[in-house]
Amino acid sequence: MGTTAMARRRRLLLLALALALAAHRAAARFVVEKNSLRVTSPAALRGVYECAIGNFGMPQYGGTMHGVVVYPKADAKACRPFDDSGLSFKPKPGGLPVFLLVDRGDCYFTTKGWNAQNAGAAGVLVADDKVEPLITMDSPESSGTEHIENITIPSALVTKRFGDDLRKALQNGEMVNVLLDWRESLPHPDERVEYEFWTNSNDECGAKCDMQMNFVRSFRGIAQALEKRGYTQFTPHYITWYCPEAFILSKQCKSQCINHGRYCAPDPEQDFSIGYDGKDVVVQNLIQICVFRVANETRRPWMWWDYVHDFAVRCPMKEKKYTRECAHGVINSLGLDIEKINKCVGDPDADKENPVLKAEQDAQIGHGSRGDVTILPTLVVNNRQYRGKLEKRSVLKAVCSGFEETTEPDVCLREDIETNECLENNGGCWLDKATNVSACKDTFRGRVCECPIVNGVKFIGDGYSHCEASGLGRCQINNGAAGMRLGTGRLSLPAHLEQKTNSGTLQNQEAKGCKCPSGFKGDGVNSCEDVDECKEKLFCQCKDCACENTWGSYECSCGGSNLLYIREHDTCISKQSNSSLGWGFLWVIFFGLALAGAGAYAVYKYRLRSYMDSEIRAIMAQYMPLESQEMPNQHRSVVPVDHADI
Ligand SMILES: *[C@@H]1O[C@H](CO)[C@@H](O)[C@H](O)[C@H]1NC(C)=O
Ligand SMILES: *[C@@H]1O[C@H](CO)[C@@H](O)[C@H](O)[C@H]1NC(C)=O
Ligand SMILES: *[C@@H]1O[C@H](CO)[C@@H](O)[C@H](O)[C@H]1NC(C)=O
Repeated sequence: MGTTAMARRRRLLLLALALALAAHRAAARFVVEKNSLRVTSPAALRGVYECAIGNFGMPQYGGTMHGVVVYPKADAKACRPFDDSGLSFKPKPGGLPVFLLVDRGDCYFTTKGWNAQNAGAAGVLVADDKVEPLITMDSPESSGTEHIENITIPSALVTKRFGDDLRKALQNGEMVNVLLDWRESLPHPDERVEYEFWTNSNDECGAKCDMQMNFVRSFRGIAQALEKRGYTQFTPHYITWYCPEAFILSKQCKSQCINHGRYCAPDPEQDFSIGYDGKDVVVQNLIQICVFRVANETRRPWMWWDYVHDFAVRCPMKEKKYTRECAHGVINSLGLDIEKINKCVGDPDADKENPVLKAEQDAQIGHGSRGDVTILPTLVVNNRQYRGKLEKRSVLKAVCSGFEETTEPDVCLREDIETNECLENNGGCWLDKATNVSACKDTFRGRVCECPIVNGVKFIGDGYSHCEASGLGRCQINNGAAGMRLGTGRLSLPAHLEQKTNSGTLQNQEAKGCKCPSGFKGDGVNSCEDVDECKEKLFCQCKDCACENTWGSYECSCGGSNLLYIREHDTCISKQSNSSLGWGFLWVIFFGLALAGAGAYAVYKYRLRSYMDSEIRAIMAQYMPLESQEMPNQHRSVVPVDHADI
């Protein structure tokens, strides 16, 4: 075939695809994702302005950046390296970072970003050159832009009017202080983040394919951990096009589409005569969706990351392994159900719809806050398109900024991706210097001042100027200088129980005192621990007596069936009065006296004990499961109130 024929064919193909895309784009809706920019000085400009997040560089999702705006004296469009004009925007030590304001036009946005970064700027603000709504600055598709991958500063487009105002203020010699703010760039409604990755199995598309693969490789571990722990719900997606009706029987559509022109992908090499065809890509994409679906059915959706990673390693196009057989090998190694996957893939040659790919095409169209997906790869977080470089740290920031305050996973709070605002001045929150209990809670989007819960004790207050321990167990904290024994796992009884009983008539102790109940020892502040009466030889030391320690008390039984243990006197007596008349006689008198003397008192104590019993059991139940669930009000000798007053 002649080259002209080939060229004609290529043109026809491009036309065909263009048509398919145009048809799709008739209702296309692209959403410009924004962040806000707050000018803090000069006063005349003070206020909050919107700017559009560039689709390159690293926006600081969930974060903020302070800086001063500088407008270059030369090369205001930043199309040439600033080295040439001897300009540097590195801040002096202790100085604020510089956001370089540059004019739109003459070169790629990415070139401006790259030049600004190399000159030491911390961010780049591009001023639009015409009055129009904000647009998204994208990275170019063409070559000669290798540095795109290396841009790490954030970029934003500002309106022409705001750009003019900034320039004017700077030319008047004013210092312009701004705060770039990405905290509200993504919605963060709840404790789970839903995100989608629109990708492609094609591995021969140059820089973009390499970037996707690098991203999958580096993000896989985090993605899987988040998914396994239920923090995220991830869904992969694939874009397909369709062949316009008139071309379905053309060679082009036959080589690029499956299911009779319904689902197409561009030829990887853009040449039909060599290598793999578009339809091979569609089939592999379809297998990847099916892998996800089948894995998701068995509640292991994260297997997709393993599959995609392994497939790229084991079945690359350049080794001519981009085949179904190779894909099956990977599926088998991962232990996925190949029958189910084949069923999901269906017959690519059949003249009928594939429900899975149909769903993908429908999903491409934007809904709610999300615009249409037209760029590959695209990441969607909480139904909003992510803008910026597809890179682990940057994407993780975006995912983390999608969690409701204080619900983000630990990985979001690691030093390398966030700053802990609580470290400085305790974030301006309440702090008890004596006990180091703080109301400052670091979250991904900044700190919150919230009275804490320490060791099960809830503090209440405004979180800024005061917090106070409340409820059960507050004695542990109120009186304790070193009151925090976090996570020791030791069973401890909140000492306010004693306080409650003592606030009665019994001993008239001051209510402020925190003291352990009878049968327990400790300072009544940090903890109260059971006294082992047997081991400490406090009671039940009679000959032949069997002593058994219980929680808060002890049990004692006398040797011999006709002996009875008398707890009050820690001694054994015979049940048969005649076996030891003298003793028995003595005891009868003694008992009479004791009964008479302790009559009303015993009634009081009985009630008190019942009350304490139920209280203690309620507390205990918080610490450990109780083996038996007796009625808490039943009188048992768990709490030895009896011997406390002897
Ligand atoms: C971009 O970064 C990579 C690795 O960090 C480096 O090898 C490469 O030379 C950089 N490219 C440019 C244009 O600086
Ligand atoms: C994956 O599974 C979850 C829960 O089982 C379900 O809510 C979700 O819709 C599934 N996703 C897909 C794409 O099937
Ligand atoms: C209080 O806690 C902070 C953070 O955990 C720690 O850095 C500091 O040394 C503690 N101060 C005291 C007095 O324990």
